Amino acid sequence: MHYSTDYVFDGSGTAPRSEEAPTGPLNVYGQTKLEGEEAIRASGCRHLLLRTSWVYGARGGNFAKTMLRLAQEREALKVIDDQIGAPTGADLLADLTAHMIRAARADASLSGTYHAVASGQTSWHGYASHVIAFARAAGASLKVSPDAIEPVPTTAFPTPARRPLNSRLKTDKLQARFGLSLPDWRPGVERMLTEVLGR
Ligand SMILES: NC(=O)c1ccc[n+]([C@@H]2O[C@H](COP(=O)([O-])OP(=O)(O)OC[C@H]3O[C@@H](n4cnc5c(N)ncnc54)[C@H](OP(=O)(O)O)[C@@H]3O)[C@@H](O)[C@H]2O)c1
Repeated sequence: MHYSTDYVFDGSGTAPRSEEAPTGPLNVYGQTKLEGEEAIRASGCRHLLLRTSWVYGARGGNFAKTMLRLAQEREALKVIDDQIGAPTGADLLADLTAHMIRAARADASLSGTYHAVASGQTSWHGYASHVIAFARAAGASLKVSPDAIEPVPTTAFPTPARRPLNSRLKTDKLQARFGLSLPDWRPGVERMLTEVLGR
C-alpha cells in the first residue's frame, strides 16, 4: 500500500488526469514521489498505489485550520484561486485503504495505480471560503467575513518550489474497479471542522 500525489504531474491544462496520463513533476517532492512509484512498479510486487491530493485530518496541521487561525487574527485574507484540486480527508483515505486491501487480496488483478480523491473540485480560495462560512455558521468568532477573502493568483505568493496549477485527478478507475462512489469534498471538510471547532 503506497500513497503518492498529483505532484507527479506538471499541472498543465484544466482537464482531470487519468492514471495513465504522462507524468512531469515540477519540483523535487514530485520527482522523488514519482521515483518511489516507479520503484514499486518495477519491483513486481502486488501493490495498491494511491495518488491523492490536498489531504487534511482533524489532528495535526492542515490548510483549513490555518485559515481558521488567520481568520481570528485578521480582518481580510488573500487566498490563491488558480490552483484547482479536491480536498481529501485522511479518514476517507483510510476507509478506501481498508476496502481496497480486502478486495485486492481476493483478486490479484486489482493490483495497480489509482487516483483517490474526493469528488468535485475547488480552488484554495473556494476551500477557504467554505471553511470560513461553515465556521461562522457554527458560531465561531472570526474577524474575517466570507466577502473579505480576496482571490489572488499563485504569483502573488512566490515560493522557491513550483506547484502544479491543475491538481484535478480522474477517479473513474478506482470507482469502477472497486465498486465505490467517492463523496463530494465538502461533507468531509465539514465533518473535520465540526470535530476541530468542538474542541
Ligand atoms: N498532505 C498532502 O496533502 C498529501 C497529498 C498527496 C499525497 N500525500 C502523501 O501522503 C503521505 C503522508 O503525507 P502527510 O502530508 O500526512 O505527511 P506528514 O504529515 O509529514 O506525515 C508523515 C508521516 O510519516 C512518518 N515518517 C516520516 N519518515 C518516516 C520514516 N523514515 N519512517 C517511518 N515513518 C516516517 C512521520 O512520522 P513522525 O511524525 O514520527 O515524524 C509522519 O507520521 C506522503 O506519502 C505524501 O506524499 C500527502
